[in-house]
Order: sequence, then structure tokens, then C-alpha cells
Amino acid sequence: MDKFIIEGGIPLNGEVHISGSKNAALPILCSSILADDICTYTNIPALRDISTITEVLSTLGMGIERPCNGCIVIDPRTTSSYEAPYELVKSMRASILVLGPLLAKYKKAKVSLPGGCAIGVRPIDMHLKALTKMGANITLSHGYVMAFTEGLKGTRIVFDTPTVGGTENIMMAASLAEGTTVIEGAAKEPEVVDLAYALIAMGAQIDGAGQSTITIDGTPSLSGLEYRVIPDRIEVGTFLIAGAITKGDLILKDARADHVVAVVDKLLEMGVAINQREDGSLHVDGKHDLLPVQVDTVPYPGFPTDMQAQIMALACITPGTTSITENIFENRFMHVPELVRLGGRLEEKGHTVIVQGVEQFQGASVMATDLRASASLVLAALNARGLTEIRRIYHLDRGYENLDQKLVKLGARVRRERGGL
Ligand code: EPZ
Repeated sequence: MDKFIIEGGIPLNGEVHISGSKNAALPILCSSILADDICTYTNIPALRDISTITEVLSTLGMGIERPCNGCIVIDPRTTSSYEAPYELVKSMRASILVLGPLLAKYKKAKVSLPGGCAIGVRPIDMHLKALTKMGANITLSHGYVMAFTEGLKGTRIVFDTPTVGGTENIMMAASLAEGTTVIEGAAKEPEVVDLAYALIAMGAQIDGAGQSTITIDGTPSLSGLEYRVIPDRIEVGTFLIAGAITKGDLILKDARADHVVAVVDKLLEMGVAINQREDGSLHVDGKHDLLPVQVDTVPYPGFPTDMQAQIMALACITPGTTSITENIFENRFMHVPELVRLGGRLEEKGHTVIVQGVEQFQGASVMATDLRASASLVLAALNARGLTEIRRIYHLDRGYENLDQKLVKLGARVRRERGGL
């Protein structure tokens, strides 16, 4: 398995292009199942998770072509299977996003239950309950979700707590259901909104995406489309922190500032200088003293759980006491012991981690455990005195496109070593 060797203590400087959003691309690629014609997507990041979902769609019999960098062309007209196998789903929970579209379009689906992942059990009970209310017959058998329907019907769905994937699955299913579906307690993430815009481009009737109540009037069919997905807001947040943690000076091109307001506000509170330039790019100047803050992860538009590990790395080299509380997932502190190995002073207290700032991280050998934990370790390594070895970097390759190359272009000393344990 690949590892990174990083020599830290070097301020990053220069321009970085933000890639397309993984968490927008995944549901949007699944929505092609609903289409009657060719779907062309651009700004799709080259990531392992994207390869996995296109493999799932190919397993369903759909035609997949990659005519250029960042483009994917899907032909749904050759769909011949309705089963997403365990071998693929086990490696990526988002594969469950084929369930709603398959049921809506073909009235049947067999999708492996997603394995839990490092950050928690991550059930899909809210997805299944909502689809059942829309007229799906769902049973769980031998680790698979077996689902069929005489035809999905629009209804009122109330989510007790926001679920991004649940909102996306139901929005896709409702687009071809008979009648009107109202989703209350919907997730408001930009990726949900981007999916809604893609569905509307296919002819879906959707109102209210981005708010807590979304109304979908089902249509008999949906056309193909050409669509460009939004930039990745978590990559934006990660590079803002890279600028801060190395006391560097970065320009983030193709960033959507309106998608990262909570992250920018929190970093400004910490003393990081961030501004938006005329051309829309984001400028971060990390040469200012940092101040401790309190961070609570909450659903969008609040501070995102996907930035929790990254801001924890910055908190480790912020003088004073910072507290970080994870309210979305039950086990998203796998990066804590690794940050301790790098010299961080952290103490877990239930869902909260108390961080006492130190001067600088110290290089060490550490292990990546999940996608955003890996990003946190890279950020810490970029700050650290000496060399850091980060093993199992495949976690990072799931969600960051060419991160090592982007960092090297900014002056970082990062080397990828292939193979090994
Ligand atoms: C999406 O996951 C993202 N993944 C996650 O990003 C992100 O952390 C998460 O939303 C929260 O923002 C993609 O978009 C592909 P949820 P999702 O359904 O949809 C519980 C990354 O790093 N829940 O909003 O799986 C669940 O266990 C990834 O890019 C149920 O209990 O998240 C969790 O505690 C990690 N039952 C909470 O709700 C359900 O039926 C939020 O989950 C569904 C969810």
C-alpha cells in the first residue's frame, strides 16, 4: 500500500485549482440511471470513489466512456441488471445511491448493505423507511437490500435528522414517482442542491432544494443532459488550512466561497486572513498568530463534519485550548492518536476533543484510517519539524485528486512511495 513521505516546516505558496466535488459527483452519476438518453458530465474528479461508482453502473450494464480529462459519458439505455454487488458496495457506502433510481426506473433493485466504515455504523434505515412509504417492498436478505415496487407514489417524507444520502435517494426516486413528494427535514448541503439542478436539467420538477422542505412533482420520464459538477468545498477547506498551518500564502482557483462560509468564518475567528478576490478565487494568508476557538460539527450550513479532522490539526499548533465536538458521527476521532504521535496534545472526552496548542508538530510514522483523517495527518506533516511517513494513503486517494502533486506545486516536499505494508 502506498505511503507519503513529507518533509514539513515549509510555507506553501502559489495557486491551486480545486477539483470537482466527490460528494456531488457520486449522486449525480447515479441519477443517470433515471435518464432515457446519454448523460455527459464534466469536472468529475479522478478519484477511487468515482471509479467505484462507475464500476457499479457498468455492472448494471450501462455504457461508460471517459472521452477527456474530468469527463464521463454514461449511456443508460443498455441497463440490463439491477444488482449492486457486495464486492463493490463494501468499499463505498455511497453505492446505496443506486437504490432509489433503480426502484423508480425499473421497479426493482438488489443492493448490498453498505459495510460500516471507519467513522461509524452509518445505517440506511431512513432511506429504506422513506422508500417503503413511497410504495417499495423492501426486505433484507443475506446482506442485501431486496426491493421491488408496483410503482413508486409521491408522499410526505419527514426526516427526524438531516441525511444527505437519504435526501438524495428520495429526491431521485421521487423524480419518476407518480404524484408529488414533499421531503421535510431535508439536508441542505450544496451537493444536494447540485443533484437537484442536474435532475431539473433532465426535466425533473423540483422546488426548494437547499432548504429544509423540498417538493418533487414526479414526471413520466427524464432526458439525458450535459452537466458540470460544483467544486469540492471540502478540498477548499483543506487547502485553506494548508495555507494556515504552514504560514503560507495561497490562491484557491475555482473555489465556491458561498459553499464554505462556516469554515471561513471559523478560520477568520482563529486569526487566519482569508479574502475573496475579484475573480472569485479565495486568498489565504497564514502568517498571523492563531487564536483558540470552539468547534461544533453540525449539518449544513454549519461547520461540516468533513472538516473536523482538518481543523483539529490546525488547533494542535494554535496557542491555548481549543475544543472540538463531533455531533454527526459516533466514531470520527480515529486521527486523534495519530496526531498525538506527531506531538499533538489532545484529550478525548466523549464526543469532544480538548486540544492544547504546541509550537510545532514533530515528524513521525503514522497510519491513515479514513479519508478526512488522512487529510488531517497530511496537514500536520506539512507543519512538522522533520520527516513524516503516512501509511495506507489509499484512504486519501478516495477523495483528493492528485493531492501530492498539487502540494509539490505549492512548494511542499511530498514523496509518494508505492507498495509496502
Ligand atoms: C454524506 O454521507 C457524505 N458522503 C459524508 O462525507 C458526510 O460526512 C455526510 O454526508 C454528512 O455530511 C457523501 O456525500 C458521499 P448522512 P451520508 O446520511 O449521506 C446517520 C466524506 O468524507 N444516518 O447525512 O452517508 C448517519 O449514521 C464523507 O466525503 C442514519 O442514522 O451521511 C450519520 O450519523 C464521509 N440513518 C448521520 O445520519 C440513515 O438512514 C448523517 O449521515 C442515514 C444516516
